[in-house]
Amino acid sequence: MTDPLSIRRLYGRAQGHPLRERQAGLIETLLPTLAIPEGPLSARRLFTDERPLHLEIGFGKGEHLAFQAVRNPGDGYIGAEPFLNGVAGLLADIDDAALTNIRLHRGDALDVLERLPDASLSTVWLLHPDPWPKARHAKRRFVNPGPMDLIAAKLKPGGHFKLATDHPRYLRHALMVMAARPDFEWTAETPFHWQNVPQDWPDTRFAAKARALGHEVWRLDYVRVPA
Ligand SMILES: C[S@@+](CC[C@H](N)C(=O)[O-])C[C@H]1O[C@@H](n2cnc3c(N)ncnc32)[C@H](O)[C@@H]1O
Repeated sequence: MTDPLSIRRLYGRAQGHPLRERQAGLIETLLPTLAIPEGPLSARRLFTDERPLHLEIGFGKGEHLAFQAVRNPGDGYIGAEPFLNGVAGLLADIDDAALTNIRLHRGDALDVLERLPDASLSTVWLLHPDPWPKARHAKRRFVNPGPMDLIAAKLKPGGHFKLATDHPRYLRHALMVMAARPDFEWTAETPFHWQNVPQDWPDTRFAAKARALGHEVWRLDYVRVPA
């Protein structure tokens, strides 16, 4: 497996417009109660029991993670996102719906993945990752051998890696990276299956923006299989 330290990179904005009063208050009061602790992580450590565990990488404003957490209240959800305004957005959803099954990391998802036990995750979502469209930035894309080695190690056999993108170049790159991996099997049954909007996988904010611009949104669902 690639040394995860050699792939650790955090790019993008840490904060956008100033937080509103309620958002700032939730960052002060609610975030510390939901922030993942230092050191090794596990379902028991985060949720006090052995429930199924899922991770969303770069959850943006968090509407997809909140949707999943409402849908499966017995499961545990971890969200990693460095963008403060996004974290504040998800905290508002958590507060409004009184959700108790989400834990948060304001930072790089690789830091979370590294601290989870192998074969501990049921699902990893990577929805509309930053596309890094220039060829010279291709190594910064999350779908690359280093990060995917880590995701493969942390997914249970039969666990799912779910990727969405509206960026044709990212789609092509991801299809090539994933096709080279014997440890993942693409679940697409027909060429059009992966453009459907499944009931358990709603559009995110970025997906909605992309559709409004007339772009296609692609969903790729891979299962972790023995290599
Ligand atoms: C294009 S946005 C998509 C947001 C959201 N998933 C959606 O579909 O609306 C990509 C997000 O990934 C976050 N991100 C980038 N690198 C990351 C990393 N290494 N770990 C966690 N989040 C990351 C960015 O801060 C940004 O919010």
